[in-house]
Amino acid sequence: MSEFPLVLLSGNGETRNHWIARDSTATGTMSTRRAARSLARMCASTSARASDSATSAASARALWRVSRDPSGRSSGRAEGRRPPGADVDAPSRRAFSNRPSDAVYGGPKPSPDRFTLRRLMQKYREGERISVVTAYDYPSAVAVDQAGIDVCLVGDSAAMVVHGHDTTLPITLDEMLSHCRAVARGASRPLLVGDLPFGSYEQSPKHAVASATLMLKEGGMDAVKLEGGSNTRVDAAKTLVDAGIAVMGHVGLTPQSISVLGGFRPQGRTLDEAMLVVERALRLQDAGCFAVVLECVPGSLAAAVTAALDVPTIGIGAGNLTSGQVLVYHDLLGFTRHPHHAKVTPKFSKQYADVGKVVDAALKQFRDEVQNGAFPGPRHSPYKMGADDAAQLARALESRGMGDAARAVEDAMERESERGD
Ligand code: KIV
Repeated sequence: MSEFPLVLLSGNGETRNHWIARDSTATGTMSTRRAARSLARMCASTSARASDSATSAASARALWRVSRDPSGRSSGRAEGRRPPGADVDAPSRRAFSNRPSDAVYGGPKPSPDRFTLRRLMQKYREGERISVVTAYDYPSAVAVDQAGIDVCLVGDSAAMVVHGHDTTLPITLDEMLSHCRAVARGASRPLLVGDLPFGSYEQSPKHAVASATLMLKEGGMDAVKLEGGSNTRVDAAKTLVDAGIAVMGHVGLTPQSISVLGGFRPQGRTLDEAMLVVERALRLQDAGCFAVVLECVPGSLAAAVTAALDVPTIGIGAGNLTSGQVLVYHDLLGFTRHPHHAKVTPKFSKQYADVGKVVDAALKQFRDEVQNGAFPGPRHSPYKMGADDAAQLARALESRGMGDAARAVEDAMERESERGD
């Protein structure tokens, strides 16, 4: 027995565990604490019996699952509650014994050419512009990596472009961590920055450290980004940097504050607003941020902030006088084709490709070819049976009273030979 899959069920106000012991077929329910104790015993005896360390790790993971927050949520988990060696959520590549020896997933091999924070600062000091693109999953991360983009941002824009929400507010820390892990598997060259989602860092600097720690430890990120430059955000940024976590700031239009901003509107167009943007960017720099995103502000204001700071500014809808530029993957590639997306695709976002059109045409062609039987043709039907085996199969089916199935085999063989498969 190597695993004890568990499902947390909630009933009559008490959290109970549905447990299944794979080798005993026994099932039942028990309270969380009892289940943990029982599992600990099972784990201990399993570990004693099994000599390989993978089994102990699986037991530790099972125990962790049972002892975690009874709500089943992992947001805000306290550090240190996870047993040592429990790698259930870690982004690292475990050498599973069932992994194909010719596996291609797992992303590009670690690059000696990694774009570190030092390289970012060097590029900035040498006046070279920094490219940043968002990614949310394994394929987009591989694409960003292979294109030689400097920084890959796992943005909370995932809420909109991946999950289909109208704003970035609904995405949770757990959802972001899942995106981060996939991106970390796909991108090994760029600096990876994970966006702290709305509700994961505002309550207190301690809250911010707990969430950001998960982004690095479980999400595999190199740094985090947080939005806004008010006192609480600056305190959070400072505490994170003190805790050893690199932070990217974000001012101007901060979509997580849509509730107070009254919509996705450009910021900093009046003197007062512009000065607020400058002051906030400076305060984030003073708090230790290694870069500041400037979103939807006039180019002249972005130029002023860029001149005032000693760290790079990354613009989005902020003109071209910033130290670097960021675009959202789906916007850049023209992924979203439905006409209603035109309304929400930002005016500043240059579409470098029309991937949505290609996807659209391919899906429609597939649908048509399935309907008219053209797919799969001979080229995509690689598995063949020899004529003798097919004849024997037909006879065996016939003798078991499955005449229709026997004739289906004969017809299929005849068609294959007609098509020259
Ligand atoms: O979430 C995101 O994609 C961002 C960028 C727009 C900077 O924050």
